[in-house]
Amino acid sequence: MLYIGIDLGTSAVKLLLMDGDGKIKKIVSREYPLYFPHPGWSEQSPEDWFLKSMEGMQELTAGCDKSQIAGISFGGQMHGLVALDKDDNVIRPAILWNDGRTGEETDYLNKAVGKKKLSEYTANIAFAGFTAPKILWMKKHEPDNFAKIEKIMLPKDYLAYKLSGSFCTDMSDASGMLLMDVKNRCWSEEMMEICGIRKEQLPKLYESYEAVGVLKPEIAKELGLPSEVKVIAGAGDNAAAAVGTGTVGEGKCNISLGTSGTIFISSKHFKVDAYNALHSFAHSDGNYHLMGCMLSAASCNKWWSEEILKTKDFGAEQEGITKLGENHVFFLPYLMGERSPHNNPDARAMFIGMSMDATREDMTQAVLEGVAFGLRDSLEVARSLGIHPERTKICGGGARSPLWKKIIANVMNMKVDVIESEEGPALGGAMLAAVGCGEYPDVETIAEKIVKVIDTVEPQPELVRKYEERYQKFRKIYPTVKEIF
Ligand code: XUL
Repeated sequence: MLYIGIDLGTSAVKLLLMDGDGKIKKIVSREYPLYFPHPGWSEQSPEDWFLKSMEGMQELTAGCDKSQIAGISFGGQMHGLVALDKDDNVIRPAILWNDGRTGEETDYLNKAVGKKKLSEYTANIAFAGFTAPKILWMKKHEPDNFAKIEKIMLPKDYLAYKLSGSFCTDMSDASGMLLMDVKNRCWSEEMMEICGIRKEQLPKLYESYEAVGVLKPEIAKELGLPSEVKVIAGAGDNAAAAVGTGTVGEGKCNISLGTSGTIFISSKHFKVDAYNALHSFAHSDGNYHLMGCMLSAASCNKWWSEEILKTKDFGAEQEGITKLGENHVFFLPYLMGERSPHNNPDARAMFIGMSMDATREDMTQAVLEGVAFGLRDSLEVARSLGIHPERTKICGGGARSPLWKKIIANVMNMKVDVIESEEGPALGGAMLAAVGCGEYPDVETIAEKIVKVIDTVEPQPELVRKYEERYQKFRKIYPTVKEIF
């Protein structure tokens, strides 16, 4: 049978067709606009997501035996607020995961309600990008829109709703709303009350590999697919990427270098760190995970290369970089503020440490290193919990750079396992569909069968030592400059 995985990203939707043995048959993608209506705000149109996903599915399935398609599932950008009215119209553009407008609401939740209570109710504290502060923002700033809300959902859930008519979400993605009791895998009554919403406005919770319905007849007809094609709940993009890289079960690690940068540690047991610096979320294999999320990762390199250096040839730009561990330039990667671990939507990026002999290569290298140091900040929190992963998988656009993988291996002092396919969330989505359709008994089994490590980047002791010195300097920069943000 064939399975479709849809990675609903921030710059584009990527669709992947996989057969029952895990072979990738085809990948297509469609871009859509991202709007920044004010500095630090970030919005998208859910209608664009659906339109482009439908176009993508037409192209993806053209030329294949459509009767073989059994299931569709998703990995979706997390935390975005999608609100529908009683007629299922989108009330306002979706407010995305990297939107920083909710500073006040985040402060209210963390200070007035209090971090201790939030952690008790949800296993997490408030971060500006999470969904609950956005609901409070809408309540205060757009009361007419707030009054119209009939359904609240996350980005990929809008696709599932349009495709199947099922008002649903999954545990991993719902964890990032700050409305779910993560430990007990149910909605939190207390959080609904704090946000002024009712349970009927929230979707039904499913495990990521569960079927939520089948294609609506009119959608099946439009796509030329059998009407019994199952729609499977899917996962937040990081939990889906973890499936696609085999980061399931106990103590595995994955780093994603996409628009955002994440370090994801799977666990069979529920855990929370002392300061809730890491997100404690449900995993799409039915277990849990800890995650640190940087708001700008590969997007730092994209910004630096495309906007400043005016080149799209990232590889050529990195060719002249040879002095690993010896760069005097530092880059703080906070172009959209920062989530983990600083939780400051007003933080901004900066270069520091240049001298007259600083070169273009030094600056580019500093950007790649700054992202690696930012991820190391989250790894340090995991280490403080006694979690010491020795190796990690890696995925996302940035994972295509051999240099960046080497920098990550040495900054983190971890082995970086390179896998056959870096298509994290889209592949993970297709794998969840295969489990939901019964081709595999569970997520761990399919991950063991399909995910193959083809190379390992080993840390080198001398470079690890040099990068340790650099990191100890890097970690002093943010506390020193944060007052100016
Ligand atoms: C995770 C997060 C990002 C988005 C990117 O908490 O906000 O990784 O999911 O799509």
